[in-house]
Amino acid sequence: MAEVLAVKNIVKHLGGKQVLHNVNFSVEKGEIYGFLGPNGAGKTTTMKCIMGLIVPESGEIQVFGNTGLTQEARKKVGFMPENTYLYKHLTGREFLRFNGNFFGYTKDALEKKIEVLLERVGLEKAADRRLSGYSKGMLQRVGLAQSIINDPELLFLDEPMSGLDPIGRKMVKDLLVELRGKGTTIFFNTHILADVESICDKVSIIHKGNIIVESESLKNIKGGLEDYFIEKVSSFDTELDTTNS
Ligand SMILES: Nc1ncnc2c1ncn2[C@@H]1O[C@H](COP(=O)(O)OP(=O)(O)O)[C@@H](O)[C@H]1O
Ligand SMILES: [Mg+2]
Repeated sequence: MAEVLAVKNIVKHLGGKQVLHNVNFSVEKGEIYGFLGPNGAGKTTTMKCIMGLIVPESGEIQVFGNTGLTQEARKKVGFMPENTYLYKHLTGREFLRFNGNFFGYTKDALEKKIEVLLERVGLEKAADRRLSGYSKGMLQRVGLAQSIINDPELLFLDEPMSGLDPIGRKMVKDLLVELRGKGTTIFFNTHILADVESICDKVSIIHKGNIIVESESLKNIKGGLEDYFIEKVSSFDTELDTTNS
């Protein structure tokens, strides 16, 4: 299987504190990859480094085999940030139009694409309302639609299910599984383990900026992800206590 993402020993400090400690993992084509960790573990920071929004002090990131996110790679990548705050004065449809305009669609093709996406994420009725009036769940949905407007080969989602009700979560999970069926590689951050168990192929766990589990196949995790997660996190903490005392 081909590697589409490799994160190699990245180190990042923020506000005088080391947030990432030699973060290291890789993702292969066609998998749904869950990047798990408690709140504040460093998931968003890692994703920001991959997307080139912030620059690690050391280490290397390869996307499709090239260092950094090249212009060419950008066209084949989708990204949904943790909070879609921006452009609140736009309607859902205008927001998608704005984002779709970067990808060389003809006007008609883009309008068709937007229609399909709005329906797929259940926003067809809200399409012409402003984002400022959207609920958290609706913003998640329009953010997700935005992230796949270019039919990306590699999709990054930061907490895609948080803020969604059970129906919304089911919609997102079904969509991710459908995209994997078409060959899309999906990398998503989450602290909600139940979302992972049903759809992920592999997981890594980050805790206090350290990768404590790297690219483990979900089928190798016996006895439930929750117990596994808690066991890994607490044994790391115990080790840290021992080292510090
Ligand atoms: N701009 C910043 N300045 C200082 N500290 C930050 C900044 N952004 C994040 N952090 C800290 O870095 C750590 C990791 O944050 P983050 O990557 O957002 O975690 P996660 O997404 O796993 O919840 C946290 O302790 C957070 O408080
Ligand atoms: Mg986060």
